Amino acid sequence: LKRLLFTAGPVEVRQEVLDAMRFPMITHRGGEYKELHHSIVERMQRLLRTDNDILLFVSSATGAMEAAVRSGVQRKIMHLVSGAFGERWVEISKTNGKEVIERSVPWGAHISDCMGDVPEDVEAVAVTHNETSTGVMNPLEQIAEDVHSRSDALLLVDAVTSAFAVDIDMKKVEPDFLLFGTQKALALPPGLAFGVVSQRYLERCRKVTGRGRYFDVLEIKEFADRHLCPSTPPISLMYALDFQLERIEKEGMKQRAARHHELGELARTWARERMSLFPQSHFSETVTCVRNTAGIDYASLSSALAERGFQISEGYGKLKKETFRIGHMGDITVEEMRSLLAAMDEVI
Ligand SMILES: Cc1ncc(COP(=O)(O)O)c(C=O)c1O
Repeated sequence: LKRLLFTAGPVEVRQEVLDAMRFPMITHRGGEYKELHHSIVERMQRLLRTDNDILLFVSSATGAMEAAVRSGVQRKIMHLVSGAFGERWVEISKTNGKEVIERSVPWGAHISDCMGDVPEDVEAVAVTHNETSTGVMNPLEQIAEDVHSRSDALLLVDAVTSAFAVDIDMKKVEPDFLLFGTQKALALPPGLAFGVVSQRYLERCRKVTGRGRYFDVLEIKEFADRHLCPSTPPISLMYALDFQLERIEKEGMKQRAARHHELGELARTWARERMSLFPQSHFSETVTCVRNTAGIDYASLSSALAERGFQISEGYGKLKKETFRIGHMGDITVEEMRSLLAAMDEVI
């Protein structure tokens, strides 16, 4: 049954983008593959306005989160946490044997001044730009300025639900490792993740031992210099990615960000008038987390929406009962958002 996805990811993928996956299979060591890989990286660099290396990880975004920490940090990392995905990154660091300093704010709040001093032996500070579980978009430029002015720790950024939806100013943020995947604002099927890495990050990696095998960033970089991946990438998905990046270039990043803002405003206005928003401020431009003050049964809401051809997302983790989420990232149009909100009104 075809439903229009207003989800937190995977999100709606347009038919023409799905169709772009149909091309014949090629080997991942040949010239045609190298052209495809190179084209993707160049388009992404143009769209993100960066000259930094863009590395492909043959995994979902969690793989890139693990790679960032394991390859770039020998011993100690600070995590700024404002929800479930920040907590996940802490777990990743701990299970990779890193010593973690965790600075947290309550769920629903944004990261502002929780960082305090950054001890000299902290090698990296990790932050989630858009906390998908709470619908908070953290003020990345401010956080970046704080990190860079207080230390020379690397800045690792989870931009999984912000990249290609908001226009991140890479020159201002100067992230050392900014990561995202295909199934969110890029509006593609899942299966591939990316890390935009600085020279400084790569230099630090050289001193780190125990980088592992599958996610050794230095090996991935060495292959990337030849427009290759060390392991077999999802080539069909990459055909669609190259096509989708061309579509995004046609739309323009500024326009894409403006459209996401408009979608967010529509969702927020609806939520404020009917119920309330879970965050107090710093509302996400990609995921609206609605506090279900009307006590609506989510399962009934969801199935009634499905009958009308729509899908939204339930609350995440410990917010499952209290909230539900409207995802509005990728290629969703303003008209489509209006039709979802009308359907929600009808159901409620
Ligand atoms: C902010 C954030 N970080 C990380 C992830 C994990 O991404 P993946 O499921 O692609 O591994 C998600 C997934 O929803 C996310 O929203």
